[in-house]
Amino acid sequence: MTEIIDVNIEQAPTKYSIYIDSNPISELHDKIFADNCFSNFLVVISKKVYKIYQKELNINKDNLFILNDGESEKNIENYQKILKRCEEINLDRKSAIIAIGGGVVGDIAGFVAASYMRGIAFIQVPTTLLACVDSSVGGKVAINTKYGKNIVGAFYQPKAVYINLNFLNTLDNRQYKSGIAEIIKYAFIEKSCKAMFDYGLFDFLSVHSSTILDRNLKFLEKIIRICIELKITVIQKDEKESGLRKILNFGHTYGHTLENITKYKKFTHGEAVIFGIFFIINYACKAKIIDANYKELSFELLNKFGFENCKHKFSPQDLLQIMRKDKKSENANIKVIVPTFKGHVKECDLNIQTALPLL
Ligand code: NAD
Ligand code: GLY
Repeated sequence: MTEIIDVNIEQAPTKYSIYIDSNPISELHDKIFADNCFSNFLVVISKKVYKIYQKELNINKDNLFILNDGESEKNIENYQKILKRCEEINLDRKSAIIAIGGGVVGDIAGFVAASYMRGIAFIQVPTTLLACVDSSVGGKVAINTKYGKNIVGAFYQPKAVYINLNFLNTLDNRQYKSGIAEIIKYAFIEKSCKAMFDYGLFDFLSVHSSTILDRNLKFLEKIIRICIELKITVIQKDEKESGLRKILNFGHTYGHTLENITKYKKFTHGEAVIFGIFFIINYACKAKIIDANYKELSFELLNKFGFENCKHKFSPQDLLQIMRKDKKSENANIKVIVPTFKGHVKECDLNIQTALPLL
């Protein structure tokens, strides 16, 4: 059975559907082409995903761009190479880019789709947990440059998102947990986006941590749906991050900084976000925005998923310099999303004196 979640962004205006199922992956190709009509297409796929699923996906080699794995591949050179392939196979304005992979593939392929001929159709097929719960939905597409993470990009909504849960079976544990990081992020911000759930995601995750770690697909489907619905609640109100959407960056200011300072090679995005969450909880407690009880409760939740607080050995001055270049910064003030109480967050300026000992 296929679950369908509809996204309706009135300001854009744009509407699209997110399909979630666990049908055989071999049916995906026909499903995408039955639902959509394109003059031509380019599939951008990560190397690892291609190796594992090439038979089931059955994509003509002429229509393929295989991207090497890793965050550092989300760069301007690969952006240009993908554009070149679009030109070589004569994609026109009625053509599509189809991203099959994790957030790296989705972000770079989406930016090509947003900019080639001023924008052509874009289809997301997320294959990591992180991409299912976060990056494939909401229309942020980007590449990294030496000046920062996701510093060149666009808001460009996909035409459709196809989530097939079977992909999650082949994710290694590190990548799986990276996806859990973004799920935990939602637990901290859930009430701030006035979620429609009668139970709190924070407690829900805490109670079901072992089921989630065991990758129970039925349960994962539920979690993915919850996260997507939370994200949609936010982006339908604020597609371009002029206000509310900033809460989705909880844990990301410090997280992006760690990714940048290690040249995108040491941490997965999710790992960096987890350190960002630990940092901002410590900061909020030190700044007396939250009390010690909530800090303890938060650490308990993170520990249940095997995440530990740890201090890194980077120069605080270097970290602060990178943070000042964050897209949320204004007039050199570092803006952060801090927890206030369970499920609630707010934006504030980072107090450097309070933050310094924690960096
Ligand atoms: P990723 O795209 O680097 O994928 C992780 C690894 O898993 C890669 O090696 C990939 O080949 C492999 N992989 C993918 N699917 C697989 C599968 N089914 N089986 C086995 N291996 C598989 O990492 P990610 O965590 O998916 O995405 C991180 C990126 O997403 C970052 O660049 C981050 O900035 C971005 N992001 C974007 C948004 C957004 O809104 N656009 C939101 C969150 C994160
Ligand atoms: N992942 C943050 C956002 O989509 O806004």
